[in-house]
Amino acid sequence: MILNIIPCSTLLYWIVAIISGGAILVLVGLRLYVFYTLGICKSKAQMDGKTIIITGCTSGIGKETARDLAKRGARIIMACRNPDIANQLKDEIVKESNNANITVRKLDLSSLQSIRKFAQQINQEESKLDVLIHNAGTAETFRKKVTEDGLEQTMATNYFGPFLLTHLLIDLLKRSKPSRIIVVASELYRLACLNLDNINPMSTLPAYVYYVSKYADIVFTLELARRLEGSGVTANCLHPGMIDSGIWRNVPAPLSWGLKLIVKMFFKTPEQGAQTTIYLAVSDELNKISGRYFMDCAEHRLSNAVKDPAKGKKLWELSEPLVKLQSSDPKI
Ligand SMILES: NC(=O)c1ccc[n+]([C@@H]2O[C@H](COP(=O)([O-])OP(=O)(O)OC[C@H]3O[C@@H](n4cnc5c(N)ncnc54)[C@H](OP(=O)(O)O)[C@@H]3O)[C@@H](O)[C@H]2O)c1
Repeated sequence: MILNIIPCSTLLYWIVAIISGGAILVLVGLRLYVFYTLGICKSKAQMDGKTIIITGCTSGIGKETARDLAKRGARIIMACRNPDIANQLKDEIVKESNNANITVRKLDLSSLQSIRKFAQQINQEESKLDVLIHNAGTAETFRKKVTEDGLEQTMATNYFGPFLLTHLLIDLLKRSKPSRIIVVASELYRLACLNLDNINPMSTLPAYVYYVSKYADIVFTLELARRLEGSGVTANCLHPGMIDSGIWRNVPAPLSWGLKLIVKMFFKTPEQGAQTTIYLAVSDELNKISGRYFMDCAEHRLSNAVKDPAKGKKLWELSEPLVKLQSSDPKI
């Protein structure tokens, strides 16, 4: 009927115009959403005299966090698995911040031995630790990897490693009270659930294991906060936003082609992505705040499932033998 009134070529023209217009509107809307939901850390707090460990700060969010906190005068311990790259970055940050109090220490979070070696060195060398930032993270899409300790690689790096490291540094953190533990988690936890019958999932799709690891990070932070109540050490976690960082490097082609475009057009820069971590590390108003989840420098609600204390307790108990926690290690 319509084709009888409007010529076919004109109709086609209108369909293409409407679809393109709609797509442009959606893209502009998305860009505006990213811009207007951008949380910026407004605190001007200086961190002179504070010692801060940042894991995985050779790229992305960690690198920008180190840069900012160095400018605020903190002693920065860059805990990285590639000391050569970390030392190059350290020189850059020292120059830029005029802060020479920056040290590189080797830490591979996917190796229990490396974590123990790192913690031993920190406990020997450092008299205090004010902020521990669990930032390092990895993600795979399809490639399955198992660590030398028999742990799934993504779970080992993103969850089991920070779990063990926290234990090994807890006495130093307690002696340095008030002190803070910050866990960089992800809102993508909402796409996962935690199977307590299999917290070291070897046969699950690695892309999904990333979501599981971030779910575990949040459950861990909340349980940690409960266990640290009254100790003077706080524990909070955060979602940094979707960031144009190295975390997407293992997405294979052709999936990566479209992703690269989206990441470049709509995701935050690493500097913007570091804002909530910096906020949690420096803000005076958070001195006594613990067991919370933040996004864009503001507190956000978590799902009821992730907040379940029984889940936290169970995950904790199941994780202890997997990270080979010894009876001589500090208990939390
Ligand atoms: N980008 C996002 O959109 C996004 C969203 C939500 C949450 N996050 C979280 O943000 C955190 C920072 O990631 P990013 O986005 O900044 O990614 P990134 O640029 O890839 O940085 C990750 C850092 O972690 C380090 N790392 C990886 N495996 C390690 C290991 N086994 N031991 C020690 N360090 C290791 C990397 O070191 P190398 O340079 O040696 O590889 C790198 O310095 C991660 O926890 C990530 O899950 C990111």
